[in-house]
Amino acid sequence: MHTENKGQFVTLEGIEGVGKSSHLPAIRRYFESRGHRVVTTREPGGTPLGERLRQLLLQDKSLQICDDTELMLMFAARAEHLSQVIRPELENGSVVISDRFTDSTFAYQGGGRGLPQDRIAELEHWVQGGLRPDLTLLFDAPVEIALQRAARRSNKDRIEDQELSFFEDVRNCFLRRCQMEPERFVRIDSSRSYDEVEAAVLSALKRRYE
Ligand code: TMP
Repeated sequence: MHTENKGQFVTLEGIEGVGKSSHLPAIRRYFESRGHRVVTTREPGGTPLGERLRQLLLQDKSLQICDDTELMLMFAARAEHLSQVIRPELENGSVVISDRFTDSTFAYQGGGRGLPQDRIAELEHWVQGGLRPDLTLLFDAPVEIALQRAARRSNKDRIEDQELSFFEDVRNCFLRRCQMEPERFVRIDSSRSYDEVEAAVLSALKRRYE
């Protein structure tokens, strides 16, 4: 357990189309069956302000947003999320499962948009202090496979509208972070079938918590 957290802070990460959100209910059930109170949430979002920022950041494609503004809005939504949901719930001893967190900022605004990693790290330190996820499941698949799956869903949002090389950079950044922090990350090979991915997720949770 991360020293700051009384509960458990679990984050799901990966590029679009890797299926992380569809495995969230099974992860929730796993912790509930072990008697934990579980809160599921997402970023950007998770609070009324965060959801409005999400709308601005992702849905309104006509809105011009420069890269620095995008970065700071992600952290503005996160500051609110930490203050209203994540910190109080961890203090209560809950398991908080967030569909995306700061690894996405390093990967998308850093790897994808090309903003300096140390600038992101400064904001991370400012907004989070020492708080980091206890466990991060990185759902990973080759970009072509993931984007084909994502394309089957509804309209692309402002960030999903990027070209292939953007997502290669995002994926590589996630993989580098996974290699740098092997004690926090578990990489889930998401190029397999839904059932195989779910089995891999559950076995990762069992290895970690049983
Ligand atoms: P999703 O929740 O459907 O994956 O969509 C969220 C989008 O927001 C996705 O394209 C990744 C992007 N995003 C960032 O660019 N930076 C961030 O810090 C976060 C949390 C998400």
